[in-house]
Amino acid sequence: MERKVSTAVVGCGMISNIYLKNLKNLFSIIDLAAVGSRSRAAAEEKARTYGIDRVMTVDEIAASGDIELVVNLTPAFSHYDVIKKMLLAGKHVWTEKTMTVTVDQARELVELADKKGLYLGVAPDTVLGAGLQTARRAIDTDMIGTVTSGVAVINRDQALNSEYFAFLRGDGGSLPYDVGVYYIGALLSLLGPVKAIRAFGAPAPVHEPEFLYANGDRVPWRIPGSNVLSACLEFACGALVSVLFDGNTVNASQHELTLFGTRGVLKVGDPNAFNGPVTLLYADQPACVLPFTHGYDGANTLEPTAFDHYGHRGVGVAEMAYAIRAGRPNRCCKEYGLHCLEVLAGMEQSAATGKTVEPVSRFEMKPLAPGYYSAFMGGTGRADAERSLMD
Ligand SMILES: NC(=O)c1ccc[n+]([C@@H]2O[C@H](COP(=O)([O-])OP(=O)(O)OC[C@H]3O[C@@H](n4cnc5c(N)ncnc54)[C@H](O)[C@@H]3O)[C@@H](O)[C@H]2O)c1
Repeated sequence: MERKVSTAVVGCGMISNIYLKNLKNLFSIIDLAAVGSRSRAAAEEKARTYGIDRVMTVDEIAASGDIELVVNLTPAFSHYDVIKKMLLAGKHVWTEKTMTVTVDQARELVELADKKGLYLGVAPDTVLGAGLQTARRAIDTDMIGTVTSGVAVINRDQALNSEYFAFLRGDGGSLPYDVGVYYIGALLSLLGPVKAIRAFGAPAPVHEPEFLYANGDRVPWRIPGSNVLSACLEFACGALVSVLFDGNTVNASQHELTLFGTRGVLKVGDPNAFNGPVTLLYADQPACVLPFTHGYDGANTLEPTAFDHYGHRGVGVAEMAYAIRAGRPNRCCKEYGLHCLEVLAGMEQSAATGKTVEPVSRFEMKPLAPGYYSAFMGGTGRADAERSLMD
């Protein structure tokens, strides 16, 4: 049995609920020792709800002698400051997406983590879920031959959403950064690094408040950056993928992630979830939904809460904790997080300049071992899926 990794969560908003529930109950490698946030009242409430012993300030967490790993669940525009503080204090860090809101900040943090010999893991960790790991296995075992092309699409009314989720009004809140990153992360986990990008884009409109109550703010605003991006990504493996992120439409999400190969077509489910169905299409054959080859399918076997649709978020933290103990690279590594950001920023840059952009960072993500499922013994044997995170 590995020694547990003493962990603190920073940021006690919406997404902290599923992280705290999962980190507290699901992964035997994690000792969830403390929570902290800008608001002490919010941290105290989460500590009570999820049974966490210590409430600390962010500075106390940085200065603590026993906390090894900090999970950063603050808004994207706060990530750089929190991650840098924790790395300088000698802590390993897991951060929600996106790593930072600029590529320069992300590069600086990657260099800092390397210099200090610390782990920096980055969401989305949905790429470690049953859906995307099954899709990866289908590709790795040659079920669709060589991937020649693909399509990735997501749409939302991001301006309306930013009324409810105030952090979406800041840097990193546009649809490509906030949600498109799940599609980029999924493509990277399936196809590897991107070689070149060409794109067109459009900004969000100025948003007049529509909700009667949310956040009480009646002054119009505009989400920064491009809220619509249409791009072609050329992957180093040779695949050409058309990407469309449209945040200037309605909240009737038409997510699509399809890869076309020389022998077959793979339709991959929602990469923002852990259980997106994976459908295989061959010529002249009925479509076939593949059985999941991996665990972490998002089905929560613990006491139900209102946040269970967020699935197995936190699995990347646990995988990184095992990597720390084993001294091996973690899968959702800092180079993956940097490459996600470089691709998003590259799409925006290409749209603005009309030029091809070539990301410079590279990363490697090994698949998880197959054959370990979440619901072993009807859901009571949670150690089964956790076994896949160890090596
Ligand atoms: N809301 C979602 O559906 C969702 C889903 C997946 C991922 N995420 C990601 O999770 C992160 C947090 O999202 P959220 O929805 O929980 O946001 P939120 O606004 O609900 O909560 C953010 C929390 O961070 C705290 N905070 C802000 N700046 C801080 C700082 N400098 N130091 C300490 N605490 C600070 C706030 O007080 C708040 O408790 C973001 O990166 C977001 O992209 C959100």
